Amino acid sequence: MRHLQAMMTLAREMRERAYAPYSNHAVGAVVRTPGGQLYGGCNVENAAYPEGTCAEAGAIAAMVAGGDRVAIEVLVMGPAGPPCTPCGGCRQKLTEFCPPTTPVHVCDPDSLLLTTSLSELFPHAFGPGNLGA
Ligand code: THU
Repeated sequence: MRHLQAMMTLAREMRERAYAPYSNHAVGAVVRTPGGQLYGGCNVENAAYPEGTCAEAGAIAAMVAGGDRVAIEVLVMGPAGPPCTPCGGCRQKLTEFCPPTTPVHVCDPDSLLLTTSLSELFPHAFGPGNLGA
């Protein structure tokens, strides 16, 4: 919770850069590393719809490209309306880099809507541990 404001500020910036001409559903996501580094991403849609990518995927890619491999807090910011909880694919992607206890905050541009955890969103996950990693 200590980092919530900074994460929301970055998510808002990310969301403003989203490329979502087809759904009009702009999303920003931020991950925080144990060292306190924040990495953000936005959704990037494509005329060939399945080629679009989610904001969480962008944030994870930025983290890995930035040299980090672990995130311990996640924030997803969608538009006003029903909370933009991470999609199934993003729950799997987050599982690769986040401990199950990782808090996941879901916001709209103005406020925090809910805080849950990765294990609550994605119980009985198949992850690196299943492959001995
Ligand atoms: N989207 C995300 O970026 N993250 C999610 O977890 C849910 C959905 C995006 C994908 C697509 O560009 C738009 O929201 C509508 O599905």
